[in-house]
Amino acid sequence: MASEDIEEGVLEDLSGSPAPSLYSFNPSVDERHMLRELYGRVVNSYNDTYLLPADDDEHRRLDLQHRIYTIMLGALYPAVPLVRWALRPRRGTTPAILDVGTGSGSWAIDMAREFPHCEVVGIDLVPPRILGDVPANCRFEIDDANLGFPHYRGRFDVIQARAVDVGIRDFPGLLNELAQSLRPSGVLLLGDGEMQLYDEQKRPISFSEPNPSWTHRIFFAAYNAMKNRGGSPDAPSMSPTWLRAIDSLTDVGWHKVFVPIGPWIYGERSYTDRARPHGSNREAANEREKILADMLRTNCLAFISGMGPLLMSEGYLPESVEKMQHEAGMELQELRVRLYSRWSFAWAVKKP
Ligand SMILES: C[S@@+](CC[C@H](N)C(=O)[O-])C[C@H]1O[C@@H](n2cnc3c(N)ncnc32)[C@H](O)[C@@H]1O
Repeated sequence: MASEDIEEGVLEDLSGSPAPSLYSFNPSVDERHMLRELYGRVVNSYNDTYLLPADDDEHRRLDLQHRIYTIMLGALYPAVPLVRWALRPRRGTTPAILDVGTGSGSWAIDMAREFPHCEVVGIDLVPPRILGDVPANCRFEIDDANLGFPHYRGRFDVIQARAVDVGIRDFPGLLNELAQSLRPSGVLLLGDGEMQLYDEQKRPISFSEPNPSWTHRIFFAAYNAMKNRGGSPDAPSMSPTWLRAIDSLTDVGWHKVFVPIGPWIYGERSYTDRARPHGSNREAANEREKILADMLRTNCLAFISGMGPLLMSEGYLPESVEKMQHEAGMELQELRVRLYSRWSFAWAVKKP
């Protein structure tokens, strides 16, 4: 994974990989150049568009979010038959997987374990936080997806770009690049939670609503900051349209999942009381949703607490940010808001 002798600023392939990225990294040498401190958190040094943190707390949040995705989908990926077909073992080719904006690296590592006959590459602006062993068929490289992927043409059978849109300036352009990086019949996977929040009837809450909740206010402030910095926070709802516009792709699919932010549905009665009349399948579904809702609230609290660098870089005063973070956190902890978030999974297949 990491090269032993990387010299500062050398942008050439030192990994010996057949699909070189900008470079493989050496944590002890490179981390101090890739990371910088901003308003009390650590963020990446390369990309001013992406100002969510890149520190251990954020990587712990991403690990939790990875578990949330896996429970939502019941698998590591949507479009299960398409992905398994694309990654089937075959003579003369090692199937390959690319994880764009790999974050903590959890998805890449889990995919490497599920598909030990495949090669997995995770790329990001910053190094992942690896706690255990990295499988031999998985490696991480430093790369900015905004620079395109001319070095990856026709190289991968499955490409995932999950929750990376906030750091992407031209998302349709990225999808084009990724389509070109797929082998014939390869699968492109996208996924993310929307910045748009939904009410308890799952209707989108308008940003001009009178007396918005604090949670709604801080999400709206962060959404605007992401847009102002050139990111693509609308990508989760726009991706299917953008995928359909790419000639080399076909079989576009879209799966949406609503999850309550916090177990507010179970506030008045316990979830087992609600479940009992429906029998054990219903009970199991409720148990799953309650656990997901709880995990999502924890994730959301950590997401809100990581919004500081983004909001303050856009001119918000530290005291306004702290006020919004505190009030939104209290609302979610005390189940005073009844919100749903919508998670969007889109995919497409490269034409043979
Ligand atoms: C919210 S995290 C998601 C991590 C992972 N994909 C997941 O779903 O668990 C977004 C990640 O994308 C990375 N990122 C953002 N913009 C990027 C870019 N232009 N090129 C490469 N990575 C980027 C960030 O550094 C961060 O680690």
